Amino acid sequence: MPDHGGLVVHVTGARPNFPKAAPVIDGLRAGPLEQVLVHTGQHYDDRLSRVFFDELGLPDPDLNLGVGSGSHAVQTAAVMVGLEQVFLKRRPDLVVVYGDVNSTVAAALVAAKLRIPVAHVEAGLRSFDPTMPEEVNRRLTDQLCDLLFVTSPEGIGHLAREGVPAERIHFVGNPMIDTLLAHLDAFDPARAWAGLDLGPAPADYLVATLHRPANVDDPASVRRLVSVLHKASERLPLLIPLHPRGRAALAAAGLADRAGGVIVTDPLPYTTFLGLVRGAAAVITDSGGVQEETTVLGVPCLTMRPNTERPATITHGTNRLVGVDEVLPALDEVLSRPVSVRPAPLTARPPLWDGAAGPRIAAIIDAWLAAR
Ligand code: UD1
Repeated sequence: MPDHGGLVVHVTGARPNFPKAAPVIDGLRAGPLEQVLVHTGQHYDDRLSRVFFDELGLPDPDLNLGVGSGSHAVQTAAVMVGLEQVFLKRRPDLVVVYGDVNSTVAAALVAAKLRIPVAHVEAGLRSFDPTMPEEVNRRLTDQLCDLLFVTSPEGIGHLAREGVPAERIHFVGNPMIDTLLAHLDAFDPARAWAGLDLGPAPADYLVATLHRPANVDDPASVRRLVSVLHKASERLPLLIPLHPRGRAALAAAGLADRAGGVIVTDPLPYTTFLGLVRGAAAVITDSGGVQEETTVLGVPCLTMRPNTERPATITHGTNRLVGVDEVLPALDEVLSRPVSVRPAPLTARPPLWDGAAGPRIAAIIDAWLAAR
């Protein structure tokens, strides 16, 4: 590594950021750069934040801005006001932002206005769905960045069409998959189930996660969703680790914590959750990350969304988009497949989802800063 020094500030804020940041921070450790980790506090429940730092070996944040929840404007503005002070004081040589949450776009905007270079890890994803707040965050963040780290080749085309110069774009693979592969041995379905204190593990079960506004904010769609979840749980026991967002709406629509085959839990730690996903007959989700994790684990995934910014999960054969009325037929089709035709875990992964994205990103950051 060149001996040049410099300060890199990583900005994280919400649960999906942490498994993406860990391999990048780790990759930069061996080099000459000083690193500072800022947690915006967008997620503050221990189960959405603290547990990831403990499990993923992330350093404790050097700073937590404690912005908490609020409307998009309130939350984004609070992150911006907090970060402006941090950036003015520390004058980073590079700010690194992750994914597509409100903290991501807020950090990129503050840094760009202060003329501080910004790198975006997981650039170039597009759902082309302007109703998703994350799509707005992705597009704006990518316009503001000097280094764009792309997880999947189609991201290069998306960025090029939006006028991003080619020399800024680097196809490096998927750092979230680095984290998954590094913890694979810890994903033990039996141990994960035993840790839930729910009695003996069933031979087969389903996992569901739901938190997107489009699914959990409108009372009429929540009622239809709850009815589908109850019917799915008549096929196999259905474990639902529930994000705080939507828990009240789902409960109000009749989703009891324990009823028939439904088992609702709090959000679970990383290895427990992926241990359970690894052993599931199928997963029903509206998460972005879970679509990718099931792809690598070879678990059939039904994504309750009209679109995805992660098309490789579909072409790979594990993921399928479903409307609420399509969940049960799709589930019956998946459960009727002989196990042997299900995608084998860990074979034929999407290109560069190989566990080495973090070191690739670190090498590019290091060389880029050395050349400045
Ligand atoms: C955020 C991201 C979303 C990501 C999700 C993963 C944005 C726009 N959305 O959504 O892309 O998929 O994280 O978890 O950034 N809450 C708590 N405790 C917490 C955090 C939130 O109870 O620690 C509740 C609050 O009621 C809050 C609501 O969840 O108002 C939404 O939180 P917020 O951070 O705004 O968005 P998420 O739905 O978590």
